[in-house]
Amino acid sequence: MTRVLRSRAELRAALADAPRPLGLVPTMGWLHEGHRSLFKRARAQNPSVVASIFVNPRQFNVAADFTKYPRNEARDVSICAAEGVDIVWAPPVDEVYVPGFDTTVTVGAISRPLEGAARPGHFDGVATVVAILFGLVGAERAYFGQKDAQQVMVIRRMARDLALPTEVIACPTVREPDGLALSSRNVHLAPAERAAAPVLHRALLEASGLWRSGERSGEVLRQTMRSVLAAEPLAVPEYVSVADALTLAELDRIDASALLSLAVRFGSTRLIDNELLEAPG
Ligand code: PAF
Repeated sequence: MTRVLRSRAELRAALADAPRPLGLVPTMGWLHEGHRSLFKRARAQNPSVVASIFVNPRQFNVAADFTKYPRNEARDVSICAAEGVDIVWAPPVDEVYVPGFDTTVTVGAISRPLEGAARPGHFDGVATVVAILFGLVGAERAYFGQKDAQQVMVIRRMARDLALPTEVIACPTVREPDGLALSSRNVHLAPAERAAAPVLHRALLEASGLWRSGERSGEVLRQTMRSVLAAEPLAVPEYVSVADALTLAELDRIDASALLSLAVRFGSTRLIDNELLEAPG
């Protein structure tokens, strides 16, 4: 049976006798198939699974995005129950940021480009809340979607640098049949924007296909993605990147693994997607 807990104290008490190892899936709710894939992976690898549902105000640099973030806790809890999650932690804000809370976790260079540049303060908010979750839950493993590739890198770096004992596991992006990566934001797309949105995946496929056939120029791959996006009038690109997969520095030449990533606006909805180009060996 899935238990829904609200306070830090209830969570600590419930975890005291939970069978180990324990898998944690941090979420902001509005769960979709991408989250289900994280729950399934956590369930397969751990006798205990905890999911958190918390729309984290500190990771929204635009207040309106926080307010309009979609929420439906009852539906989320029933999805968790169907996926065999043991504990759902769905706290109010002051159980996460306790009175007098005055700590921010800032990860360095890899949190600055791409999403970090577009959304100042975003990764501080993510790293801070995930550090709290890791501290409270003490899970052996935590599961995140590779769709937010830079987020995974930031959290991994934080866990390594702060010697947090939770292993960070990235799970593959789940897509609609037309290639659109699942995201809680997709619900905001108007029908014409929804029809246009698979252009992100097409741009990534075109560039990764070129790389697979031997192209190693970062600029050629960036230009390829820009051209695919330019053919879709509703798509307004924010950034197109071919970056080193470890440092996120933009690449002139791809000699090792690289991350293709892009952020594109459709009206007021901002979508991101990425593909990892893994160098053999
Ligand atoms: O990816 C998300 O849903 C959030 O950034 C996370 C990791 C749950 C932190 O609030």
